[in-house]
Amino acid sequence: MHLDNTPKPFGELVYRCIGCGRAYNIHEFIYTCPSCKSLLRIENKDFDKLKQTSGSQWADLFDARIKAKELKLMGIFRFHELILPIIPIEDIIYLGEGNTPMVQANKELSTWVGCNFLVKMEGLNPSASFKDRGMASAISYLNHVIRVKNLDNVLGICASTGDTSASAALYMSYLPKTKVKSVVLLPEGKVTPQQLSQPLGSGAIVIELPGVFDDCMQIVEELANDFNVFLLNSKNPVRIQGQKTYAYEVAQQLGWNLDNLALVVPVGNAGNITAIMEGFVDLYELGIINELPTMLAVQSYHADPIVKWRLTGNYQPIKVKPSVAQAAMIGDPVSFPKVAKLVQEYFSDRFYAIQLSEDEIMEGMLMANRHGHVVCTQGGESIAGLKKAIEQKIIEPSGRFVVDSTSHQLKFASFQQMYFENRFDPGYEISPKDSFKNSPIRMEANASIIADFLGLQRK
Ligand code: F0G
Repeated sequence: MHLDNTPKPFGELVYRCIGCGRAYNIHEFIYTCPSCKSLLRIENKDFDKLKQTSGSQWADLFDARIKAKELKLMGIFRFHELILPIIPIEDIIYLGEGNTPMVQANKELSTWVGCNFLVKMEGLNPSASFKDRGMASAISYLNHVIRVKNLDNVLGICASTGDTSASAALYMSYLPKTKVKSVVLLPEGKVTPQQLSQPLGSGAIVIELPGVFDDCMQIVEELANDFNVFLLNSKNPVRIQGQKTYAYEVAQQLGWNLDNLALVVPVGNAGNITAIMEGFVDLYELGIINELPTMLAVQSYHADPIVKWRLTGNYQPIKVKPSVAQAAMIGDPVSFPKVAKLVQEYFSDRFYAIQLSEDEIMEGMLMANRHGHVVCTQGGESIAGLKKAIEQKIIEPSGRFVVDSTSHQLKFASFQQMYFENRFDPGYEISPKDSFKNSPIRMEANASIIADFLGLQRK
């Protein structure tokens, strides 16, 4: 295979049913197997041809693309061959996603957690969450199919706890209005004001429904089954393709050396953790990495179907309770069957689920943000989850850790404010600690009064 800094369309992609194994045309908009209703994944029938290139050649190519000047390959599409290689460069939509920094955790924070770790700042994506990776691949795919099939009036739709809708509305608004319309379904009162403002600002049709995310998801699944729409949830495997780049990027930023590495990921609908595991499997199969990492999946006691599955061996959807990790407050994760399959096939001895109280999640967020980091409640959940995994001796503190800080602190500032003002409904079961509280101090505009208050010494 010819390796090029500017990749050419390559391979034959199909949707492959994870249940019955049937294959379907990649240019159709389908999200479950028409025959057995199982989930679909995207398979490159020519994947084995990629193995003719050595792992180190792949690593060199991906490193070279970082330095190359091709704008559309600066983000997730520098891994073009591993995500959607049939898409020509001109169809790629790049809004600045991917290439997020990893930051060494502050020393005091590391001591509190019990180990050194890195924080991957996914909140620095364009819509301020990790969702932009999968959205860039989904919208690039859509842009490609619209051109190839000369489609008009495509209705892109998703259910969301706030971040998917922000990302979907942003990327959809980049496409021509004559071609697409964007609709998002949100559980009323269960996304933050900042998250709600995002799809409104991008001009999407925003529909609020009673209930929680799981109720919205059910409606959107029905719409995707029965009507002609383009589904923008991670149930659509084109979203997973872009999201896999989180794994590729972590590996690249660590110099392709994953020795003794564990990843900490907050889990809601389980699209992210599915994609991250699939991404590492790709790298492993191509010989780019020598070992798969360990996965630490973190959930609140108030939304913990994955933890219960790991504890009991049985999967049961659960009814969620209010959670400050509201974006992950999901009782029946759509991608669960994919998680189960990946764990069975590749991660059985390296997949742990960690359960946290709501107080622990808030304290993870507040501690991180007090020590030079920018994390949301779900990022706080990751950090508190790592602390718990160390405390419970699930994992050795001498390992290497990357914590997924999935969105931006500012999107979840309302939870911080509720904490500071002790305003949580009892259902959250949060007892704020005074030591974590902070509030503005109103003072007279008078330098000596302020100096007195601060105990300043005169020069
Ligand atoms: N963190 C944040 C900030 C999220 O927005 C989400 C999910 C998760 C973690 C959990 O990831 O669902 O892939 O397991 N948000 C979705 C949404 C559900 O609609 O924005 P997951």
